[in-house]
Amino acid sequence: MRPKVLVTGGTGYIGSHTILDLLENGCDAVCIDSCINSDTSCLKAIKELTGTEIPFYKADLCDLKATEQVFRDHPDIAGIIHFAALKAVGESVEKPLLYFRNNLESLINILDLSLRYGVKAFIFSSSCTVYGDVTHSPVDENTPWQEAASPYGRTKQIGEQIITDTLRHTDMKSILLRYFNPAGAHPSGKMGESPINPPQNLVPVITETAIGKRKSMTVFGTDYPTRDGSCIRDYIHVCDLAHAHTLALKYIFEGRQDEQTGIFNLGIGNGLTVLEIIEAFQRVTGVSLSYILGDRRPGDVMAIYSDHTKAGRLLGWEPKMTIDDIVSTAWTWEKNRSAAGKS
Ligand SMILES: NC(=O)c1ccc[n+]([C@@H]2O[C@H](COP(=O)([O-])OP(=O)(O)OC[C@H]3O[C@@H](n4cnc5c(N)ncnc54)[C@H](O)[C@@H]3O)[C@@H](O)[C@H]2O)c1
Repeated sequence: MRPKVLVTGGTGYIGSHTILDLLENGCDAVCIDSCINSDTSCLKAIKELTGTEIPFYKADLCDLKATEQVFRDHPDIAGIIHFAALKAVGESVEKPLLYFRNNLESLINILDLSLRYGVKAFIFSSSCTVYGDVTHSPVDENTPWQEAASPYGRTKQIGEQIITDTLRHTDMKSILLRYFNPAGAHPSGKMGESPINPPQNLVPVITETAIGKRKSMTVFGTDYPTRDGSCIRDYIHVCDLAHAHTLALKYIFEGRQDEQTGIFNLGIGNGLTVLEIIEAFQRVTGVSLSYILGDRRPGDVMAIYSDHTKAGRLLGWEPKMTIDDIVSTAWTWEKNRSAAGKS
């Protein structure tokens, strides 16, 4: 029997790619999203790619009653993947209460319902931001947390603690997945990052600049003590990331997880500088990019990349896509979106 998985935030960037991966790997999916930072066009793409029309609920997870309706309609939900959250670091500094209310109230509601309706597995979208301003890389799952650099990062730290405390004496098991820098798009060119709010991550900023939606882009800081002076990050293809969620669910469903709450880093395990990403984009696409070398941006960590050996050892997860795959799929997606008239 195909386990049924509720994907919150499922019309968003990582959620939509994960729904596709679940359907392709023996699971059924139900999706809930308020569409505060997405639209439903990915559901059409998922249908084109898999032939499956998944049940979709447009609802805010902070609305407990509306969210409970999903569980009433689908009492056989076996697992939850909880992506729904606001994620703009800068906005979270300006509007901390918006972030605490949205990201934490939604988490509390979905946890409450998961326990009441006997869900067995809970996967949480965490982030490498929980590590804060680290002094060395690679970081493994035991690297101590530093002070969160933003209210957004704090919601991930508190979210992890809420889940750990809540599940301690229950039958539900959870996995906290700490993503590094998700990027790229589905190789079909039908799905990718399509946020309502302007993207802040490097790869979509590069593709938007290359296509002319932005006049130019800035490399924030070129005097860091790194290979070329720019910041180092760990870019992981969204399809590799999506597949880790399916593996994490199976790890719990198959009874292989002993601990109540497991923690896994998901990155490629290798750091690339901002200037190296720009070089890769120009080399792979043949498009030259207009960019400015600017000052450091407050709150940016100099370098962070992952040790993901635990995910390899226990989940059997190994990223397959390279940085060239990331920039080429992101570029195809940007061109397709622009041709379709999307901003
Ligand atoms: N993309 C990244 O760089 C990154 C890195 C680390 C962690 N994460 C985390 O991964 C998750 C998914 O990120 P993404 O990049 O796909 O973002 P996204 O904005 O594309 O997707 C999040 C989705 O959640 C929805 N949502 C937000 N609040 C909601 C609510 N209260 N009720 C219902 N739906 C709501 C949004 O409409 C959106 O579709 C988030 O939790 C994010 O914090 C993302």
